[in-house]
Amino acid sequence: MLDRKKIARHLKTTLFGRNLFLLEEIDSTNKYAMQLARDGVPEGTVVCAAFQTAGRGRFERNWYASPGENLLISVIVRPKQNIELVQRITLAVSVILLESTRDFLKKYGYEPLDMRLKWPNDLMVGSKKLAGILTESLLKGKAVEALVIGIGINLNFQRDNMPQEIRDTATSIRIETGKHVDVSRFFTHFLYDFEQAYERLERTDYADVAEHWKKYNQQLGQDILIRTMQGEERGRFMDVNAEGHLIYEDEAGNRKELLAGEIING
Ligand code: BTN
Repeated sequence: MLDRKKIARHLKTTLFGRNLFLLEEIDSTNKYAMQLARDGVPEGTVVCAAFQTAGRGRFERNWYASPGENLLISVIVRPKQNIELVQRITLAVSVILLESTRDFLKKYGYEPLDMRLKWPNDLMVGSKKLAGILTESLLKGKAVEALVIGIGINLNFQRDNMPQEIRDTATSIRIETGKHVDVSRFFTHFLYDFEQAYERLERTDYADVAEHWKKYNQQLGQDILIRTMQGEERGRFMDVNAEGHLIYEDEAGNRKELLAGEIING
């Protein structure tokens, strides 16, 4: 459960979450945050909900969570970047989420988990999804006016509470470690790490993001099934370039670059 007092006591950030919308129920924190971004709220504004009635995933999928059990947040940032760099930012956020989760588990005496990143930004344990990120942008021409970075991480989701649709493909920290996670604690821990990393990334122009991301990926060099805006395609995963795009070889041996899409298998 989200505990406002606990959050106030433990939040160590200077900017992130200082303007905080803590909601019991909302359709989607991303949708709410996009409206706030249009209204001009400051960088670091955070929307966090105990429950979403219409949580959004990538490719217009639904994002599910049981009330009060998982972390559902949207962070508004105003990076000094053009739209071309947005993919790098979302890759960076998945690295931050993995490392922050790893450190949280260690700090609070959980078993370590073998977490991996799946292109572009799914956080996986084995072949199951632990967290997803949906980034939406508010643009002025090519310049980014605001980014809403929406993160859903399954903390205490139990298999019995999962809709059939995701029961075989999703997991949670609770399922993997057998231990309950304090949602408010996880929230303050993650937000602090996110703020620290974000400041560094903005200062260093996201220079090492792709290299850092690749450390946590296991599919490089393997055969993959890709979903693009045009449909599905088979290929071999060759690289992630500095812009965060997927480089693959199609079945005819042509080298291709994919900007937006996802890997279906693995
Ligand atoms: C995906 O893997 O498809 C992305 C899932 C993103 C879900 C989060 S939950 C909080 C925020 N609000 C939303 O409606 N979606 C994101």
